[in-house]
Amino acid sequence: MPAHPRVAVIGAGPSGLYAAAALAASEVPVDVDVLDRLPAPYGLVRYGVAPDHVKMKSVIRVLQKPFADGSRVRFLGNVRVGEGGIPLDVLREHYHAIVHASGSSVDRRLGIPGEDLLGSHGSGAFVSWYCGHPDFVDLQPELDHPGVVVVGAGNVALDVARVLARGHVEMAGTDIPDPVLEALRGSGVEDVHVVVRRGPEHVKFTPAELRQIGELSGVQVLVHDDGVLAAGVEEPEERRQRQNITMLTAWAADPGQAAPRRIHLHFHRTPVRLLEEAGRVTGMVVERTGGGPQETLDAGLVVRAIGYAGEPIPGLPYDERAGIVPNEGGRVAPGSYVTGWIKRGPTGVIGTNKGDAVETVAALLDDLHTLPEPPHPSSEAVDQRLEAYGLDPVTWADWERLDAEEVRLGEARGGAERVKVAELQAMLAAARGRTRV
Ligand SMILES: Cc1cc2nc3c(=O)[nH]c(=O)nc-3n(C[C@H](O)[C@H](O)[C@H](O)COP(=O)(O)OP(=O)(O)OC[C@H]3O[C@@H](n4cnc5c(N)ncnc54)[C@H](O)[C@@H]3O)c2cc1C
Ligand SMILES: NC(=O)c1ccc[n+]([C@@H]2O[C@H](COP(=O)([O-])OP(=O)(O)OC[C@H]3O[C@@H](n4cnc5c(N)ncnc54)[C@H](OP(=O)(O)O)[C@@H]3O)[C@@H](O)[C@H]2O)c1
Repeated sequence: MPAHPRVAVIGAGPSGLYAAAALAASEVPVDVDVLDRLPAPYGLVRYGVAPDHVKMKSVIRVLQKPFADGSRVRFLGNVRVGEGGIPLDVLREHYHAIVHASGSSVDRRLGIPGEDLLGSHGSGAFVSWYCGHPDFVDLQPELDHPGVVVVGAGNVALDVARVLARGHVEMAGTDIPDPVLEALRGSGVEDVHVVVRRGPEHVKFTPAELRQIGELSGVQVLVHDDGVLAAGVEEPEERRQRQNITMLTAWAADPGQAAPRRIHLHFHRTPVRLLEEAGRVTGMVVERTGGGPQETLDAGLVVRAIGYAGEPIPGLPYDERAGIVPNEGGRVAPGSYVTGWIKRGPTGVIGTNKGDAVETVAALLDDLHTLPEPPHPSSEAVDQRLEAYGLDPVTWADWERLDAEEVRLGEARGGAERVKVAELQAMLAAARGRTRV
């Protein structure tokens, strides 16, 4: 057993932070560095969870625990591992083991004509924009047209539809950056068409999220199901699905009052192609799944919310089909481990990553006595190495400064819990306490 085991966790999303917590709680005193390419921690909790799901964000109070005063866990933000950052091989010289928790951030593609037109975005990009991710501050989505198409029947599709249909007044109370709020204020969106390729009994929505779109003020939900629900669908086994069917059947039977904005749920519709004028999306042609008449949905913006894929990590094996690093209970090879979405694929809620991280850390701790001593096992050596690569890490104290600045901006906007600083240089300046942004 190494006298002073050292572990690097790559990725400060839920899975990386649950892994850091499990390592910090182990009987063996382990020094842990959590590296993230961004100056802010929390991964998709910060850059995925919808801004109007304020309660969901309170999980941050749990996720930050490994960095409590006196802990052996350090945060090294603004440090990318791999291309453009510190190579994995170099990092390995400083740690007994590495836990990869880098998530799955690549938007899956529909593979239909027109997908790359102006006005067509993956949910990863679109969500990152409204969540204030520094890589997407310049996205400028096309919100000037009354119609929008969102493809997919998962919770991300519902998030996108809801954010687009909600009035900007309500969004002002969330943490969205000011330029995003401005864009939503100028939005001309009236009809959000959610395109679902299978039937109502197969949606991946959770009932709480589906219910929420029915409760939005100024929004009518219209179900387009070719009469399938009225005829009665076979009762699904899962309770979640039965609840969805009950809600959808009620909405199909009674579309309620007309409202200024509408969310349309189109079932059994497969995207065929995007239409364009002067290189910009003007609509989407869909057909009844399995072949059938085609119809056109009018849209200036198309967001595909059809799931995510991982990115291969140079130096580790990769399963293209599953979009994960192949592993056994989190173990890739002695000294190399995975957790979270890169371990099991892009599904599961925040809490799912806890048990997953605990399993990975158990495998790592089991292996610890077999792992060779790295050549330069010290924090000082890591710091010098990062400097040699031109990397200037954001520490936990730095992050707390940025955090405080965002809380201050929230108060200034009037009652928001925070307002995110999105632009990278502004984040770094606030983190280092150089200027007010
Ligand atoms: C749009 C969206 C909304 C969601 N909303 C909810 C919700 O409301 N409730 C819920 O329970 N679940 C929600 N989820 C699911 C939840 O966010 C995931 O289960 C969880 O975030 C996965 O955790 P992870 O740590 O594996 O990945 P991530 O959260 O993606 O974290 C990965 C981290 O790794 C970092 N990273 C990546 N590459 C590198 C690199 N090369 N070097 C250094 N760092 C790197 C990233 O910056 C990121 O911080 C949502 C998911 C999405 C996509
Ligand atoms: N509030 C929350 O708790 C919350 C919020 C957001 C996300 N999350 C979680 O995060 C995870 C990821 O969510 P997600 O919405 O990205 O994924 P998801 O739940 O896997 O849903 C993806 C959807 O895309 C559809 N799809 C895939 N390929 C398609 C294609 N080529 N054409 C048309 N439709 C296609 C799928 O349909 P098929 O079923 O037919 O394949 C499915 O409906 C999920 O576990 C989700 O629950 C949770």
